[in-house]
Amino acid sequence: MGSSDTHTSSQNLSYAQILLVEDEKDVREALSAQLQDEGHHVVEAESGTEAFSLLQQSPFDILLTDVMVPGINGIELVEQIADLPSQPVTIVMTGFGSVEMAVKAIKAGAFDFLQKPFSVEVLSATIESALRVQSLRNENVELRRTVKGQFGLGNLISSSEVMKEVFRLIECVADAESTVLILGESGTGKELIAQTTHFHSNRRKGCLIPVNCGAIPEALLESELFGHEKGAFTGAVATRVGRFELAAGGTIFLDEIGDLSPPLQVKLLRVLQEKTFERVGGTRTYKADARVIAATNQDLEELVANKQFREDLYYRLNVVPIVVPPLRHRSEDIPLLIEHFMNMFNERRSSKLTGISPEAMTLLCSYQWPGNVRELGNIIERMAILKRDGQIDLADLPEKIRSPHAVSATNVSAAIPVGGINLSGTVEEFENRLIIEALERTNWVKSKAAQLLHINRTTLIEKLKKKSLAEIVSNRTGQDTKPVTSF
Ligand SMILES: Nc1ncnc2c1ncn2[C@@H]1O[C@H](COP(=O)(O)OP(=O)(O)OP(=O)(O)O)[C@@H](O)[C@H]1O
Ligand SMILES: [Mg+2]
Repeated sequence: MGSSDTHTSSQNLSYAQILLVEDEKDVREALSAQLQDEGHHVVEAESGTEAFSLLQQSPFDILLTDVMVPGINGIELVEQIADLPSQPVTIVMTGFGSVEMAVKAIKAGAFDFLQKPFSVEVLSATIESALRVQSLRNENVELRRTVKGQFGLGNLISSSEVMKEVFRLIECVADAESTVLILGESGTGKELIAQTTHFHSNRRKGCLIPVNCGAIPEALLESELFGHEKGAFTGAVATRVGRFELAAGGTIFLDEIGDLSPPLQVKLLRVLQEKTFERVGGTRTYKADARVIAATNQDLEELVANKQFREDLYYRLNVVPIVVPPLRHRSEDIPLLIEHFMNMFNERRSSKLTGISPEAMTLLCSYQWPGNVRELGNIIERMAILKRDGQIDLADLPEKIRSPHAVSATNVSAAIPVGGINLSGTVEEFENRLIIEALERTNWVKSKAAQLLHINRTTLIEKLKKKSLAEIVSNRTGQDTKPVTSF
């Protein structure tokens, strides 16, 4: 609905635009007062007909309607709003004992029902759950909008061969129902790949529901994933639908899967094996109809070897692995990404950056990008804010890129211990460190490393022959991909 970027978002679930439909004046006024006390904006209607005309005029987050209202009744109202361009999440209120009506309402598409009389706590817990659903729906509408009409694969921008392989995998796997495991360093685009996979799949009409397994406290994660029944634990004042249920017909994105606790690893394994789950505190078994995409920047095999991650779960998840290469291994993507971010932030920040000088481009293409695409995006956004217009030049780039490991006599702190210091040994050690760093940054190309250190290539070779440095180099290259013979 049109309100997606105003009062409702996943960050702020507390305020909603609510349409309250109740013909009994006293009940309506009491409910309205209570909802307003909680900060919501409430519009009241006495009949279903009046409610429907209000819904046609403006968007609401939540429709809270009594089932027996004059004109169009609550259930017909639920059915009719399915055709509206923006749909509120509906909660139907029924009289005591009319469970049949409640079932009908849910079948017609209502999110939940409240049986009268209900307490203040139950009402606010139900509203909160409904708002979560609405916020996820809004995010999905937003995502669908951005995925459409972009070049490349969805919003993924790349021209590199290594990423073409990733694109090919996404396209192959999108329509298969199989579990996908996305692996890659932080900021490489794992979440974007999960979104692209979902929106290229047959499940794109369903929701993509993200769960950050590392960000939700362990105690809450189980109920977040599977939901809970009323009274399951202290504070469970109302039944709550979990993310697996919300993702039915769509996709659940389990981010930071490496952070899942051992007990939850067992529960997830069961969902993957049996495709069923129970809500916390519940006995009814639900069918899990969500496609699972998981991601992590951790080395899952290492976690398995250290017994921190179950081997059986690892194999269940690792049906189709997509390994996203770090940005430093696909520097040919950098110019394209810079152009993409420049257009994006020029629009968002109303800036007028026109391009980038060849020198600045060369430096950006040789930088190591520990934060990958996210770091590159952040730098261009910073330019859009600080520089505002014109061409990005070397001098505009942040210090860490211009001289990532800059050292000068003023920023080296050296404390001389009480017993004195071996000057030549310490100086040699420091020199060795700078030489190694220069070699690492230039991919072990000696002429480039010598340039960085402002010395001749032959001087560098002489220094490398020194016993202490030769040893360090051979130790380092032992762990590195570049062998010492590539000198
Ligand atoms: N190929 C790409 N094209 C355009 N934008 C990209 C690309 N890859 C990543 N991005 C952007 O970079 C940022 C980081 O991407 P994303 O959040 O998907 O990374 P991630 O791998 O999930 O990171 P983390 O491990 O830290 O969660 C996002 O703003 C995303 O839109
Ligand atoms: Mg991520």
